[in-house]
Amino acid sequence: MPGMSFLPRTIFTMIAIAFWGQAHCNGDEVGTLLAFKAELTGHGTVVLPSWNASTGLCNWEGVGCSSGHVVALTLPSYGPTAASLRPSETSRLRVLALKENNLSGVLPHSLYNLSLLKDFEVQENMLSGTIAADIGDRFPSIEILSFANNQFSGSIPASLSNISSLTMLGLHANSFSGYVPHDLGRLQGLIYLSLNDNKLEANDTHGWEFMTSLSNCSQLQFLVLRKNSYSGQLPSSIENLSSTLQALYLGDNRISGVIPSNIGNLVGLKTLEMANTSVPGVIPESIGQLRNLVELGIYNTSLSGLIPSSLGNLTSLNRLYAYYNNLEGPVPTSFGKLNNLDVLDLSTNQLNGSIPRGVKTF
Ligand SMILES: *[C@@H]1O[C@H](CO)[C@@H](O)[C@H](O)[C@H]1NC(C)=O
Ligand SMILES: *[C@@H]1O[C@H](CO)[C@@H](O)[C@H](O)[C@H]1NC(C)=O
Ligand SMILES: *[C@@H]1O[C@H](CO)[C@@H](O)[C@H](O)[C@H]1NC(C)=O
Ligand SMILES: *[C@@H]1O[C@H](CO)[C@@H](O)[C@H](O)[C@H]1NC(C)=O
Ligand SMILES: *[C@@H]1O[C@H](CO)[C@@H](O)[C@H](O)[C@H]1NC(C)=O
Ligand SMILES: *[C@@H]1O[C@H](CO)[C@@H](O)[C@H](O)[C@H]1NC(C)=O
Ligand SMILES: *[C@@H]1O[C@H](CO)[C@@H](O)[C@H](O)[C@H]1NC(C)=O
Ligand SMILES: *[C@@H]1O[C@H](CO)[C@@H](O)[C@H](O)[C@H]1NC(C)=O
Ligand SMILES: *[C@@H]1O[C@H](CO)[C@@H](O)[C@H](O)[C@H]1NC(C)=O
Ligand SMILES: *[C@@H]1O[C@H](CO)[C@@H](O)[C@H](O)[C@H]1NC(C)=O
Ligand SMILES: *[C@@H]1O[C@H](CO)[C@@H](O)[C@H](O)[C@H]1NC(C)=O
Repeated sequence: MPGMSFLPRTIFTMIAIAFWGQAHCNGDEVGTLLAFKAELTGHGTVVLPSWNASTGLCNWEGVGCSSGHVVALTLPSYGPTAASLRPSETSRLRVLALKENNLSGVLPHSLYNLSLLKDFEVQENMLSGTIAADIGDRFPSIEILSFANNQFSGSIPASLSNISSLTMLGLHANSFSGYVPHDLGRLQGLIYLSLNDNKLEANDTHGWEFMTSLSNCSQLQFLVLRKNSYSGQLPSSIENLSSTLQALYLGDNRISGVIPSNIGNLVGLKTLEMANTSVPGVIPESIGQLRNLVELGIYNTSLSGLIPSSLGNLTSLNRLYAYYNNLEGPVPTSFGKLNNLDVLDLSTNQLNGSIPRGVKTF
């Protein structure tokens, strides 16, 4: 289940630094970074020992340069710790990665002056406060934005929908509330969107508009919405999400509304999770088209009726959790084809008949 971070991008950052390294750096930037360092505190250790005036700035740990200027700053996780985050005024920064550094307090507004940023990551700290409403105007070229695993609150700024370069947006595990911007689907290059573990709401068609707009994100791969305060009818437009989508997590919300009959359109899905919701109705026949599905989590819902025999077509399926529902009738004989199944939990339903031949017993 998603405690997702941006592992691939961390690697991207390191490559970027290697590429930009080895250049002459500017004296003002030395002063700025030393001032930044002075704000950092270590726990009984010298903070960033390589950051000293006797060595070239571009050789400092976590500093990347291009054409004589600092363009990347990637602090090691749990290297220094800061009582509060103060900005460096290195206005040419393209990468600012400060994850896992025990940072607290609010993001200083001057930080939003780093208008060339492509990658801004502060996940896994203890930052709080709101995200600036005009972030979309301030960071017009941002590609990766991660605020995940902090204590941010307030609403998700509508201006984010204006950043057409955005590919990864990580907002999970905070206290964001209110509606998700209705036109978030204008982010046509979006690949990764995690909004889980917040207090986001959708209680009517207006609140759910964002989901319909995400149909326009033709490269979307991960969409994680679980554990929020979404309620009301899940829009059937989820069946129009991109066929590149690999993971869709909707669980732990007060969602009702049926699983759309064309859910089988989402042929890229490897994980589909709708657990702990009130989703009624039947499991659609078209689910048998999700040939790449590895994990299906539809437990503790209000699903009823027969299990479609098409489920037996999902030969990649490894884990099927469908307990605590109102499913009835027999387990389809087609389940005998599920050779990769390691977990099958159909307990607490009204199923009858016998276990089909070929189904592994556990
Ligand atoms: C400055 O950094 C260099 C390179 O890491 C290190 O060898 C040297 O001891 C440092 N000097 C001081 C005074 O900390
Ligand atoms: C984070 O900060 C807390 C209190 O400010 C401190 O107790 C803890 O040791 C710090 N963690 C790390 C890994 O530095
Ligand atoms: C940030 O930019 C604003 C104008 O957009 C300016 O007023 C402010 O002084 C700048 N802050 C810093 C710290 O550079
Ligand atoms: C998006 O950008 C347009 C054009 O710059 C601007 O008019 C609009 O106010 C922005 N939207 C938001 C929500 O900031
Ligand atoms: C629906 O959600 C919005 C946005 O959070 C909120 O302002 C409104 O009060 C909610 N309405 C109901 C009926 O819960
Ligand atoms: C997708 O984008 C097109 C063109 O920008 C727009 O007309 C349409 O309303 C969008 N669809 C959704 C579902 O937002
Ligand atoms: C899905 O998209 C098709 C084509 O744009 C449209 O006709 C259909 O109404 C959409 N389905 C839903 C449930 O929104
Ligand atoms: C469903 O609820 C149970 C019990 O509260 C919890 O342990 C589990 O993590 C939840 N699963 C999902 C997918 O939300
Ligand atoms: C079922 O989901 C509800 C929330 O919808 C949750 O309160 C409950 O703990 C869950 N039960 C189990 C057995 O997971
Ligand atoms: C999928 O499953 C259904 C029901 O078991 C079966 O009729 C159909 O032929 C299967 N489709 C494919 C392409 O295997
Ligand atoms: C199994 O359940 C189905 C649907 O509830 C019912 O029609 C059927 O008669 C039951 N079969 C047996 C053998 O109990």
